[in-house]
Amino acid sequence: MIADVNKLLPFLASIVLATPAGTELQAADATPILEIRADQATAKVSPVFYGLMTEEINFSYEGGIYGELIRNRSFKADAVNEGIKPEAYDPAKYYPVKITVSNPPKYWNAVGGAVMMLDTNTPLNEALNVSLKLDASAASKASPAGIANGGYWGIPVRPHTTYRASFYAKAAGGFTGPLTVSLQSADGKTTFAEVKFSGLSGQWRQFQAKLTTKGVAPSKDNVFKITTAAPGTIWLQQVSLFPPTYHNRPNGNRSDIMELLAGLHPKFLRLPGGNYVEGNFFNQHFNWKETIGPVEQRPGHASCWGYWSTDGLGLLEYAEWCEDLKMEPVLAVFAGYALRGDRVEAGAKLTPYVQEALEEIEYLTGDAKTTWGARRTKDGHRAPFPLRYVEIGNEDFFDHSGSYEGRFAQFYDAIKVKYPQLQVIATTPVKSRVADLIDEHFYKNQQEMEAQSGMYDTRSRTSGTKVFVGEWATRVGSPTPNMAGALGDAAWLCCMERNSDLVVMECFAPLFVNVSQLTGPGRSMQWESDLLGYDALTSYGSPSYYVEKMFGQDYGDVILPVKAEGIPMVEQTPPAGRRGGAPTARRVPGLYYSATRDTAKGTVYLKVVNVADAPQPVSIAISGAASVAANGEAVVLAADSPQASNSIRDPLKLVPVTTKLSGLGTSFTRTLPKFSVTVFKLQTRLGRTAASAPAAAVGNPPPLAAPTPASTAVAAPPSARPTPTAIRPAPPVRIKAGTSEPLKDTEGNAWLADLGFEGGQTLERPDVQIAGTKNPDLYRSERYSMDSFSWPVPNGKYVVKLHFAETYEGINGPGERVFSFNVQGHEFKDFDVWVKAGGPFRAYVEAVNVEATNGVIKVIFTPKVENPQINGIEILPAS
Ligand code: AHR
Repeated sequence: MIADVNKLLPFLASIVLATPAGTELQAADATPILEIRADQATAKVSPVFYGLMTEEINFSYEGGIYGELIRNRSFKADAVNEGIKPEAYDPAKYYPVKITVSNPPKYWNAVGGAVMMLDTNTPLNEALNVSLKLDASAASKASPAGIANGGYWGIPVRPHTTYRASFYAKAAGGFTGPLTVSLQSADGKTTFAEVKFSGLSGQWRQFQAKLTTKGVAPSKDNVFKITTAAPGTIWLQQVSLFPPTYHNRPNGNRSDIMELLAGLHPKFLRLPGGNYVEGNFFNQHFNWKETIGPVEQRPGHASCWGYWSTDGLGLLEYAEWCEDLKMEPVLAVFAGYALRGDRVEAGAKLTPYVQEALEEIEYLTGDAKTTWGARRTKDGHRAPFPLRYVEIGNEDFFDHSGSYEGRFAQFYDAIKVKYPQLQVIATTPVKSRVADLIDEHFYKNQQEMEAQSGMYDTRSRTSGTKVFVGEWATRVGSPTPNMAGALGDAAWLCCMERNSDLVVMECFAPLFVNVSQLTGPGRSMQWESDLLGYDALTSYGSPSYYVEKMFGQDYGDVILPVKAEGIPMVEQTPPAGRRGGAPTARRVPGLYYSATRDTAKGTVYLKVVNVADAPQPVSIAISGAASVAANGEAVVLAADSPQASNSIRDPLKLVPVTTKLSGLGTSFTRTLPKFSVTVFKLQTRLGRTAASAPAAAVGNPPPLAAPTPASTAVAAPPSARPTPTAIRPAPPVRIKAGTSEPLKDTEGNAWLADLGFEGGQTLERPDVQIAGTKNPDLYRSERYSMDSFSWPVPNGKYVVKLHFAETYEGINGPGERVFSFNVQGHEFKDFDVWVKAGGPFRAYVEAVNVEATNGVIKVIFTPKVENPQINGIEILPAS
C-alpha cells in the first residue's frame, strides 16, 4: 500500500504516456497508482473527436429514426432491382425497377372483403411506377372494405398525440368517397382516431389530414386503415403517417431516438455508410440525386442489407439531422466500387462519379447562386451546411484489384482543386497522395479490444495522415452490447482519447437496431451488437451507449500523461473462435485509463476502466497542480456480471450514477467497483509557471467554423509524438507484430510488443495451433496491411529474420495472399506465406543478410492479392 504517492515522484524521472498493456504483473495486494501530470499536456484533444456513424441497416431509418410509420408506403418493397454492370450504368440516368404485379402488396392486408393488387397501368409518376388497386365492390355500411397496414412491427399510438396522414388517390366510375382513414387496435375493437376524405376523382390527387388521439394508453399493436362503406375502385400511392417529429420537422425524425442521440453530444455524423453508400451493384449505390426533392418523386432503392429503402431519409434529411443535433456531416461519396466487387478504374469512366461527388458537395455547401445550392434552396434549405470531411468510398481494402490507388487520387485531386478547404479521407492506405485522414475499422471481442488498447500510443505521427476510426465496436451481446462489450469499448475509447492528436474522430457502428424481430425471414436485425435499440414504441441505450455518453460529455481540451504503477493482471477467457476448440484463458491488464484537462475550467477528467470481477482500490496522484479541490464527482457505470445488459423490456438496468466525492487532494485512494467504468471529475489549479497547453503544435482540426464553404480547416503539419528512445533498443532486437504485450520465447529471448510499423492494423488469434515452431505464441498475433517497418540501428551488418504464418480463415489456398517485400534492397517478389510454409497454421521464417548504411533497417511491403501480413521481426547483428 502506498501512503504518500508524492514520495514516489522522484523515481518517475521520465513521464511517458504509459499503456496499460505495458505494465508489469504486480503482487495482488499492491494498490495500483495512476499518476496524472496535470501541467504536462502532451497534445490537444481533437474538438471533433466523438461522433456518430449511420447507414440503413437493422431498420435504422425505415422502421427506425425516420418518422414514417407506414411500411411499404410506395408499394415497391419487393420490386426487382437487378444489378447493372458498371459498363452499362450511367449514374445520371434513372433505371426503373421491375414490379411483379401478381405479388400481393407486401405489408398490406385487405379488410372487409376487399381485393387489392399491384397495378403498373396507372402510375403516379416515373419514380413511383406502381400503385395499389383496391377493389372495394363488396363494401357496405355494415362491412366497410379497404386495406390495413401494421407498420414496422406495429404502429405506435400515444395519448393526446396528433398524427399527419396523407396519401395520393384516384378512383374509377365517378367514385368520390368518402374514404375513412383510422388508427385502430390490431383486433379492430378500438378506434383511436379517424377522419373522412371526399373529393376523389379520376385524377391523382393528394389528401392530407390530422388524426388526434384522446387519453389512451400507449400501445404498438395497432394498424392504420383506409376503408370505404360505399362500393368503388380506388388506386392509392405514397400512403403516409407521421407522428410528431423532432423539432417538428416535416418528413422528420423520431423524437425519442433523437433525444438519445442528443445525449451523446456528438460532434459529427458519418453518412450515408458503410456498405450502404456502395450498394451491392452500381445501380444500388446511394445515388444522392434520387434521394432529394419531394418524397413522392424519390424512386427508392434496394439497399445492400436486404430490404427496400424509400429514401424518404435522403441527403437533405441527413444534413438536417446534423443541424438538429449540432453535428457536422462527414460525407462518404460513392467511389466507383460496389460491394460485390464491380468497379471502374480511374480515368474517363470514373469521371462521372467524381462529378456526382463534386455536385453532392455543392448541394450541401454551395450558396443559392450555385446550381446545386439553388436546388437545395428549392428543396427548402437556403443556408449551406458546414462540411469539412469527405470520405472516398468505404472499406476499399476489399477491392483486391488495387484500383483504389487511382480512384482515390482522381477524387482527391478534383476535390482539392474545387474545395481546397476539405479534408479527404481514404478508406485504405494510398501511396500516390497524402490522404488527410485514413478510416480504420475494428470489430472485435472484449479481449481483443483490450489487447489492442495500446496500439495508437506507439503509432508514428510523421506520415501527415490522421486517423478516423469510422467504425468500431466490441461485438459482445445481442441485439445490443452487454457490459462486457461496454468494458471493451471503454478500454478502446481510453486508447483513442489519449491519442486524439492522431485519432481525430471516432464513431461506434452500427448505431441502431430495431429489436422487434431478431431472427427468421424478414428479421429486423442484420448485424448484432448495435449501440441503441428500439421497437415501434420505445427505445433504449445499451451499456455501450452509456459508455459513449460518459466519454462524450466529459472530456477536456488537452491530453494529460498518466504514469501507471502496479496495474494488476486479470484472467479472461475469450469467446470460442469460429474454428472451434476451447479458448484458453489469458492474463490481461485489469485497468485501462485516459486523462484530459479542461484548461479554461481546470477540470481534470480521469477515466478508469476496471474489467476485473472484484473491486479495485486505486491510488490517484495529481502532480504538477498547485491544488486539487477536496470535492469532486465520479460518474460510474457498473454491473454485477459482464453479461448484464439493458433491453427493450429493461431499458435502464445499467445506467451511469453520479456521486459527489470529498476528501480529494493531490493524492487519494478510491475503490473502483468490479466491472466498472468511472469518470473522475477533479477540480485543479495549476501553479503560475505550469504549462496549461501542449508545447507542440499538434495539428488538430479547429472547432467547427461558420457554415461557409470558404472556411479553411486544413490541418497543420503533423508533429510526431516523441517516442521514448528506451523503447527502440539497438540490436539484437525482436519485435512481436500485432500485440501490445511483450513476450518471452522458449529460449528466453524477449520480444517487444508491436513497434516500428507504418500503417496497417493488428490482430490477435490467441487460440490457433501453429506447427513447425517451438514458439507458437509468436504466430498468434499479426500486423497486416502495413506499408513498411523501420528500426534505427548503428550502421553495420545484420541478419533480419521475418516470421510468417497464415492464420486468417479467409485464406484457403495458395495464391490467395500474395505480396512483395523489400529488406534493405533485397526484394522478395510475389511472396505467398501459404506456399512458403506448406499450408496454413505453419510457421515460416525468412532470414536475410543485410547491411545498414544510413542508421536504419527498413522493410517495405507491397500488396498484390490480399494484404501483406507478418508475425514478427528479428534484427540480429551478423556474427
Ligand atoms: O457497420 C456494419 C458494416 O461493417 C458497414 O456497413 C461496413 O462498412 C462494415 O463492413
